[in-house]
Amino acid sequence: MVTPKKSAFYVALVYTCFLVNHACDHDGVRFGYSGSTGPNFWGSLSPNFLLCSKGMNQSPIDIVKDKAIYNLQLEPLERDYTATNATIVDNVFNIALRYNDTAETIKVGGIKYKMKQLHWHLPSEHTINGQRFAMELHMVHFTEDDNITVVEILYRYGKPDPFLFQIKEQLAELHAEGCKAEKGDPLPVGVVDMTELKQGGDRYYKYVGSLSAPPCTENVICTVLAEITHVREMSKEQAADLMAPLEGSYRHNSRPLQPLNGRKVQLYDKSLKIRKVM
Ligand SMILES: *[C@@H]1O[C@H](CO)[C@@H](O)[C@H](O)[C@H]1NC(C)=O
Ligand SMILES: *[C@@H]1O[C@H](CO)[C@@H](O)[C@H](O)[C@H]1NC(C)=O
Ligand SMILES: *[C@@H]1O[C@H](CO)[C@@H](O)[C@H](O)[C@H]1NC(C)=O
Repeated sequence: MVTPKKSAFYVALVYTCFLVNHACDHDGVRFGYSGSTGPNFWGSLSPNFLLCSKGMNQSPIDIVKDKAIYNLQLEPLERDYTATNATIVDNVFNIALRYNDTAETIKVGGIKYKMKQLHWHLPSEHTINGQRFAMELHMVHFTEDDNITVVEILYRYGKPDPFLFQIKEQLAELHAEGCKAEKGDPLPVGVVDMTELKQGGDRYYKYVGSLSAPPCTENVICTVLAEITHVREMSKEQAADLMAPLEGSYRHNSRPLQPLNGRKVQLYDKSLKIRKVM
């Protein structure tokens, strides 16, 4: 039985949680995924977020397979992922792994980018022929002069994702800390093996888009890994663990689709490339 005293305590706790979550938002501006701070209003929440409403090259998009242009010039993804120290952080609007000055790199269009952080969206933000997936992982890479490339990996529910085993304990810890944790306080994870995330890439879609959350920075090279025959999988429990530390309304952190505005999506397909070369 919950005594009146106890229930008052719970109310106070929930209330504190609420305040903490809302007090420590990104850049001091609260944005959300529903209601008056939802995606339709991001552009008016801060002058820094203007691109979210005015940008013409925003992400995510629906990728229409038949409209993607096969480009023989595109190269396979050159991902130099090994093992690296990381921290995990509850950003209020997502859970992210952060990397300091790591050796983890990707080469896109002959340019080398360093991995800076990765985070998850539920459900997927990109859709393929209108089909939405269970989850989407964003791996965010930067050049020295802050050009950005994001590799987006789509997941469906199925067998557990071995990569996520590595952060299971830390996710539980973030969840358990709940109200006590300062949002944005990174928790060390130790060495995370990245090689698992090198898989896939025989087929990808590439277009010029944006960060899919404020400040919605543009000129981001987006590479969507979408091998429909080999979609990556994670279990429902893992997806729930990834979202558990977040406040309820942020457990659904997927921005609606954005207009293409004439942009072209390019297709890299290893099997087509081999056939055309022969
Ligand atoms: C990770 O950090 C620890 C402690 O700072 C250090 O001893 C170790 O060499 C680092 N490992 C890698 C792969 O960077
Ligand atoms: C990253 O660098 C900052 C500042 O140099 C340091 O405080 C932090 O512990 C580092 N994190 C990792 C995972 O090495
Ligand atoms: C970053 O982008 C700018 C503008 O497109 C370009 O001029 C510059 O060469 C790029 N930097 C790197 C390191 O590729």
